[in-house]
Parts: sequence; structure tokens; C-alpha cells
Amino acid sequence: MIVASKIQTVVPSLLAGDLSRLGVQLASVKSVGCTWVSVDVMDGHFVPNISFGPDFVLLAKKHGFFVDAHLMVSNPETVAPWFAKAGADIVTVHAEAVKDAKAALRAIRALGCRAGLAIKPKTSVDGILSVLDECDLALVMTVEPGFGGQGFMLEMLPKVKALRHAIDSRRLDCWLQVDGGIGLLNIAQAAEAGADSIVAGSAVFGAEDPAANFCALEAKARGK
Ligand code: DX5
Repeated sequence: MIVASKIQTVVPSLLAGDLSRLGVQLASVKSVGCTWVSVDVMDGHFVPNISFGPDFVLLAKKHGFFVDAHLMVSNPETVAPWFAKAGADIVTVHAEAVKDAKAALRAIRALGCRAGLAIKPKTSVDGILSVLDECDLALVMTVEPGFGGQGFMLEMLPKVKALRHAIDSRRLDCWLQVDGGIGLLNIAQAAEAGADSIVAGSAVFGAEDPAANFCALEAKARGK
């Protein structure tokens, strides 16, 4: 299993990719050291958009990436096995979409994947803190999920700080991820708040040179 290096911070999101040349774009970021990409899965019910199926995880795996499947769906327990079978290394579900977060996380681990739990902007950080010990990844959404290209919600940073403190004080091996509206102007704030995995779609794939954008964001995330 490919394990993303902890030193990689920026995780490009395929949602902003150009589907007519996604393979070229993936090769471009891989050529400058990107090892981890995120596949945003949307069902048109949990969020008002429809995006990718398991084949996009297969595509990213063919390109040799570590892949997280972010399930923005109303029935994550049903679809999680499909993405695990496609090779997802992490499957992330939303706390708002499961009755029993601990059971959902354990079921993902039983599939052989690392387990992630995400919260929308209006959901309290307690939604993750209460089951943090069961998480391999904790995701704080910094936009209302459903679309790329939205504005970063600075008011989510206290949630990031609270999770950073909890992960460190409990000495947990858990990625702290943020997703939504990240760019050169705010990535340092997300990193300073404690995020060590930062999903970026438009800021990487939205402009001409994904490789250069990835490198610039990585450098900024590490205070260079
Ligand atoms: C929202 C998506 C987006 C995407 C990143 O549901 O999860 O946050 O990954 O999109 P940008 O970086 O363009 O906000």
C-alpha cells in the first residue's frame, strides 16, 4: 500500500480537474512530488451536486497515487465498499450522514481502508472529537460541501485548532485535513491552525500550470 508521505500537505482534488485531460494533469502534479489526491464523491442528495464514481479512484490508483475518497453521500455505509474495492486508501464519511460514527469508521477499517470522518461548517467539532480515537483522518470542511471554487470560511479555524490540540495531546496518528476554498492567500493560516493535509481543487487544477501551483501551495503551507 502506498503511504502518503507525512511531509506532503497539499492534496489536489479531482473535482477541479479538466476531465478531457485529467491523466495529463495527474501526471503533471505527480512529476513534482505529489503522491496523494482526493476524489470528491457527491450523490445529488447529501449535497446539491453529482460527481464521481469508483472508476475515478481506479484512475488515480493507475497513476500510482495514494487516494482518499471523500463521500458526500446520504448512504455512505452502502457505497464505502465500492470505493474500497476500487482501491481507495482512505474512505471519509460525513458525521451528518451516519447514525453511529464509531460503527461507520470501524466498518471502513474492516474493509482494509483508513477511516476518515468529516464535518460540515454548521456541525460542531464535537461530532469528530467524540470518536477521534477511531479516526485515521479528521476533515473540517471550510466551505459548504458540494462545489469547488467557493470562498474559504476563516471561522472554521477554531475547529481545526481544537482537533490539533486533541490529536497531539492524545498522541493520535491521525491526519487533520481541511477542504474548501484553499489558495495561496489562506493556506498558511490553515497550516498554522494545525492542518497537515490540505485539499485544494481550483488552486491546483483551476489554473494553467497544476505542477507549479502545487509546488507554490506546498511551499506556502510550510512557511517558505
Ligand atoms: C466541496 C469540495 C471542494 C473541493 C475543493 O464539496 O470538497 O472543497 O474538494 O475545491 P476548491 O479547492 O476549489 O474549493
